[in-house]
Amino acid sequence: MHPSLNIAIRAARSAGKIILRFSDRVDQLKVETKSRNDFVSDVDRAAEAAIVQELRGRFPNHAILAEESGEQAGKGDFQWIIDPLDGTTNYLHGFPQFAVSIALLHKGQLECGVVYDPLREELFTAARGQGAQLNDRKIRVANRQSLDGALIGTGFPFRDQRHIDAYLGMFKAMTLATAGVRRPGSASLDLAYVAAGRTDGFWELGLSSWDCAAGALLIKEAGGTVTDLVGGERFLDTGNLVAGNLRVHRAMLDLIQPCLNDQLKA
Ligand code: IPD
Ligand code: CA
Ligand code: CA
Repeated sequence: MHPSLNIAIRAARSAGKIILRFSDRVDQLKVETKSRNDFVSDVDRAAEAAIVQELRGRFPNHAILAEESGEQAGKGDFQWIIDPLDGTTNYLHGFPQFAVSIALLHKGQLECGVVYDPLREELFTAARGQGAQLNDRKIRVANRQSLDGALIGTGFPFRDQRHIDAYLGMFKAMTLATAGVRRPGSASLDLAYVAAGRTDGFWELGLSSWDCAAGALLIKEAGGTVTDLVGGERFLDTGNLVAGNLRVHRAMLDLIQPCLNDQLKA
C-alpha cells in the first residue's frame, strides 16, 4: 500500500475514535459559530489535532491545510488537506451522516485520499493509479447511461447564498430529469458514495478544498469524472464541482450550464 495512504488511514481512524466518543453527548459540547451557519466544536478541534499529530510525526516536512487550524507551510511540494469532521451540523444534531476527510496533494496532483465514516465503519481509500476501495474491496462508479432513473446527491447553498437562484435552477432541472435528489450533508461522504456507485452523480457550489479533495480522488480512481461547472479541472480552487460517470457527468453539465450566472461561468 502507498505509505502515505497508510498513515492517512491511521490518522482518520484516530479522529474517528474522538468523534464517536462524544457522539452521544453532543449537547454537552462547546460550540462556536465561525460565521453564519458555520459551527465548530471541541470535537472538530480535537479530531484535527489528532490527525495533524499523526501526519506531522511521520512527514515533518509536508505542508498542511486543515479546516480549523489553517495552513502550515512545509519544506517540499506535498500538502495534506484535512477536514477533521465533515458534516458538523449533522453531528451536532445527532443526525448520523458525517466523516473524516484527508487527502495528499503533490504539485497540484491528488496522490491519495481517505474518507472515513466512523459510525458505519466504512473506510473509503484511493491512491493515484491504484483504484479506489471501500474497506479493502474495490469500488466502481455506477454504470448508468443517462439521468433517467438516476439518484443524484447535492449540497444546498446554506452559507453563501449569492448563487441561490442559479442553484435552484439546477435543482429544478435535476429533479425533473432524475429519479431523485438527495442532500445528506457531508460532501466528502457524498463523493465517496458516487465512487461506490450508491449515487449516480453529485454537484455542489461553494465547497472548500478540504470538503472535496479526498472524495474527488476516490471518484477518479473508481472510474468517474470530476470537474468544475465549466468542465475544467479547477474544482479545488472554485469549490464548484460536478461528478459522475462519463455519461452522467456530461448530462449533468448539460443541465447545469444553462443556469450559470456570469460569476459562476468564470
Ligand atoms: C460541510 C458539509 C456540507 C456541505 C458544506 C460543507 P462541514 O462541511 O460538507 O455537506 O454542504 O458546504 O461546508 O462544515 O460540516 O465540515
Ligand atoms: Ca467540510
Ligand atoms: Ca469540517
